[in-house]
Amino acid sequence: MFKGFANVWTPLVLASKLGRAPMRVILAGEPVVLFRGRDGAIGALIDRCPHRGIALSLGRVCEDGHLECAFHGWRFDTLGANMFVPLNPDARRDRLGATALPARQVGDMIWVHTSPGAEAPHEPIAPDGLTAPGLMRTYIEREWACHWTRAMENMLDSPHLPFVHRRTIGRPLIRRMTPTSRMEVTWMDTPNGGRAQAGLDGDGSSAFLEFFRPNMMALNIPIPGRHLRIHALVIPAGAGRTRLIVAGSRDFARLPLLNLWFSWLNGKIADEDKAVVESSGPQETPPAVAEHSVATDRATLQFRKYYYDTLRDSHA
Ligand code: FES
Ligand SMILES: [Fe+2]
Repeated sequence: MFKGFANVWTPLVLASKLGRAPMRVILAGEPVVLFRGRDGAIGALIDRCPHRGIALSLGRVCEDGHLECAFHGWRFDTLGANMFVPLNPDARRDRLGATALPARQVGDMIWVHTSPGAEAPHEPIAPDGLTAPGLMRTYIEREWACHWTRAMENMLDSPHLPFVHRRTIGRPLIRRMTPTSRMEVTWMDTPNGGRAQAGLDGDGSSAFLEFFRPNMMALNIPIPGRHLRIHALVIPAGAGRTRLIVAGSRDFARLPLLNLWFSWLNGKIADEDKAVVESSGPQETPPAVAEHSVATDRATLQFRKYYYDTLRDSHA
C-alpha cells in the first residue's frame, strides 16, 4: 500500500472542499475516502468496504457522523471502527472495521499520513506560510499527466526559470544573463528538508526556496518587511498522475479582490511548466547516474537522493 510514498504526512485537499458528502481522492495509487464525523473530526479511510470491497465513497454520512456503506449499510466512524452491521445483531463488529489513515486539518488543508492505523509517529510539519495567522492565502489546483517526482524536481529547479518562465518570474534573470553567466546553486540541509538559493554571477539573490519532505516547496520572494511566498504541494495521485496545489501567502495587498490576480499569476506560472514536465522520460525521476547533471542541478539531485534513499522502496 502507498508503494513509493508510504509513512509520510501529505497535504491532500482543501478543507473547504469537503462538505456533507464523502469525498474520494486517489493518493499514490490508493483510493481514500474523506468525511467529517459529527464532532468535526476528519475521517480518512481506504475507500474499500471490508465487507465486499465496494467504494465507501458511494455511501453517505449519517446523522451520527458515521459513514454508511451503500451496499449493505455497514457503518464506520472516523477511526474506521465498525459501528453497525444491519440485520446481523450477533456480528463481531470489532473484527469488521475499515482501514483508517491518520488525518488532520492543518491550516486550510486536510492532511493524511500514508500508513494505516489510528496513530502517526509524529504530527504533520507544514511550511509556516500555510499556517501562520494573519496572512492572505490563495490556492489553485492542477492535474498533470506525470509522475510526481518529475513535478517535484521542477519545483526545486532554478535554472529553468529564464527559459520556461521567460514571460513571468524568469524575466528578471533574462535581463541580467550573458553568454558567460554562471548560476551558483547552494543547498543547506534543514531539519525538514533543505534550503536552496540560486545566485547569478556572484550576485547572491536573497530569494530562496525550501524543500519540505516529502513533497512541498516554499519559495520565499524577498520584499523588505513583507511576507510573499509561493508554495507547491505535489501530490501523487493515480499512476502517472499528479495533483498540484499552488498556495500563495502574503501579508500585504489585502484586498480580497486581489486574490484573483495572485491566483491567476500562480496558475499561469504552473501552466508554463506543464508541457515540459509531462514530456519527461522516463516518467519517474531516474537515479542520478542515469541522466547527465551539472552544477546548477544541486537542489534537484538532493531531492533525488532523498527519494531513492528513503521513499522509493517504502510501502505501508
Ligand atoms: S459491501 Fe459494504 S456493507 Fe457490504
Ligand atoms: Fe517552473
